[in-house]
Amino acid sequence: MAEIRYRARRLRGSDTLRRMVRETRISQDSLIYPVFVKAGKNIQEPISAMDGQYRYSVDRLGSLYEQLLKVGVTKVLFFGLPEEKDPQGSGAYQPEGIIQTALRYTAAHYPEMFRITDVCMCAYTSHGHCGILEGEQVDNDKTLPYLAKIALSHAEAGAQMLAPSDMMDGRVGFIRHALDTQDYTALPIMAYAVKYCSAFYSPFRLAVDSTPAFGDRKTYQMDYHNKNEGIQAALQAVQEGADLVMVKPALAYLDVIQKVAEQVRVPVAAYSVSGEYAMIKAAAKAGYLDEAQVIGESTVGIFRAGARILISYFAREIAGWIAQGRIG
Ligand code: PBG
Repeated sequence: MAEIRYRARRLRGSDTLRRMVRETRISQDSLIYPVFVKAGKNIQEPISAMDGQYRYSVDRLGSLYEQLLKVGVTKVLFFGLPEEKDPQGSGAYQPEGIIQTALRYTAAHYPEMFRITDVCMCAYTSHGHCGILEGEQVDNDKTLPYLAKIALSHAEAGAQMLAPSDMMDGRVGFIRHALDTQDYTALPIMAYAVKYCSAFYSPFRLAVDSTPAFGDRKTYQMDYHNKNEGIQAALQAVQEGADLVMVKPALAYLDVIQKVAEQVRVPVAAYSVSGEYAMIKAAAKAGYLDEAQVIGESTVGIFRAGARILISYFAREIAGWIAQGRIG
């Protein structure tokens, strides 16, 4: 029997050892749960493309929050479904708009729930694009003042962090400036800095009815062939004042998450998007894989790549797994 000096299996011999030497540690503190809020009363409507996710009216948010808080998920990211849409997406910045109402309700009744908002207009525009149109093109500079208006209306309604997802050039700086001149200097921005034009967003667009009426988002969201461009976008966002940067989607972009985490010195968040959720749900439902185990493995993969924060529709399940010591 030849001498084997290095026996990797020694440290794999028991759960105690395996847990002791884990290189990736995650906690409930790092999780953010996306919530879809809809105008109306007493609504908890299933989203067909996202089995297990719902659109809630504001009065039904409480029971969701109770479930989240019980497992230690203390942060939500709001998406709104307005009553009406128009070309300017004006529903996005009304003081009595859906997000603004959800913010005030949450602050009043569940102050322990941290309130993050998605700053964009695609769910509010009649054409479904993330900005103001000039002909059939999204006009970058005309869009910026609208984004600032949306951001300010969220701030006024009690948002504790803003997440601009529109992908217009210069928007982080523009929004930062608008916030600072209105004394919201302490309100952090988590920029969707590295956001690819992705087919993995389809279930989300069905959920909030934001599929573009014509064309696609390729002139503002990123081409998935590019990694350097992602690094540049992250560095640029930081320079404009982003406090955190996000990479989105997550699973097909682990290399980008890793590279961005190496290059920036602000916290990096990853968004595991609707299509990633839907794929796991559908395969689990068909009996092709074990849902809980696959959630655990893919979640740890995202953190192992370098993310420090994860936005996930599975946040509740992940928190449960962490509590059981199965991951993290
Ligand atoms: C808004 C926005 C989108 C998502 C988050 N913010 C959709 C899009 O860009 O088309 C996608 C989230 C998901 O798929 O889970 N611009």
